[in-house]
Amino acid sequence: MKYGELTVQKSPRWVYQASPYNHNSAKVAALPVEVTGYVLLDTMIRRCGYKTFDGLRILDFGCGSRFGQTIWNLNLPVGLYLGIDQNDKAITWCRENLVAERMAFHRINMRNKGYNPKGEWPSPGYIVDLGHRNFDIASMFSVITHQQPDEADLVFRMLYEAVRPGGKMYFTAFLDPATRDYREGDETKPGHMSTYNPDFLISIVEAAGWTLIEAHEPGPLNATAFICRRRDDRPLWKRVVGV
Ligand SMILES: C[S@@+](CC[C@H](N)C(=O)[O-])C[C@H]1O[C@@H](n2cnc3c(N)ncnc32)[C@H](O)[C@@H]1O
Repeated sequence: MKYGELTVQKSPRWVYQASPYNHNSAKVAALPVEVTGYVLLDTMIRRCGYKTFDGLRILDFGCGSRFGQTIWNLNLPVGLYLGIDQNDKAITWCRENLVAERMAFHRINMRNKGYNPKGEWPSPGYIVDLGHRNFDIASMFSVITHQQPDEADLVFRMLYEAVRPGGKMYFTAFLDPATRDYREGDETKPGHMSTYNPDFLISIVEAAGWTLIEAHEPGPLNATAFICRRRDDRPLWKRVVGV
């Protein structure tokens, strides 16, 4: 369109998207999605050593729709955001409404005592086999809080395969130093409040190829947060020639 000498540029098409699904506690869900989504994502990337979202490749396991909605509505310049969840409805909504080259969503039918007891047991290479790898950060917000030890172990291994050497894993968990290894926080609902002895949880993390580098006390929006670095277990000659 022209106004005299002035050519009016086209604006990019942007439509506010609001997911009908919310998987957060009532206290958190009472706040705007983009507020909690942004605060948590921004805190995560800073704790992982980044100042901006520019080009970051983020793999979000147990994504729900909060962070996809946040990235879309705030137009955060991630390089790639891949959200994976067993929840078919949430993933379908994300795929249909958050359509952008830098965003991808996948439904995994993984067995989980609380969410999906009849699911399957994927291989550690499951995410890489989808064609996605070399992520800078793998995130799990309120996801290990719902995994029994064998489930947590498999998830840590799947994320290990998909993150680049030296990349980070960020997750939150319920801890109780007085617990021997693991207990159900709510015996009536297995997987609802997975509670770990910190040393036991760290032993699972480290056995899956990660080195724990930092932990942060619970905040108003999340349980204790852990930051881990993916160890580079490639033989020295491969690291030297870069394969
Ligand atoms: C409490 S919600 C948190 C959602 C999102 N991370 C957030 O913070 O808004 C937990 C999510 O993890 C997903 N989830 C839990 N265990 C899973 C598993 N083993 N495989 C895939 N998704 C899982 C659930 O379907 C649910 O969407």
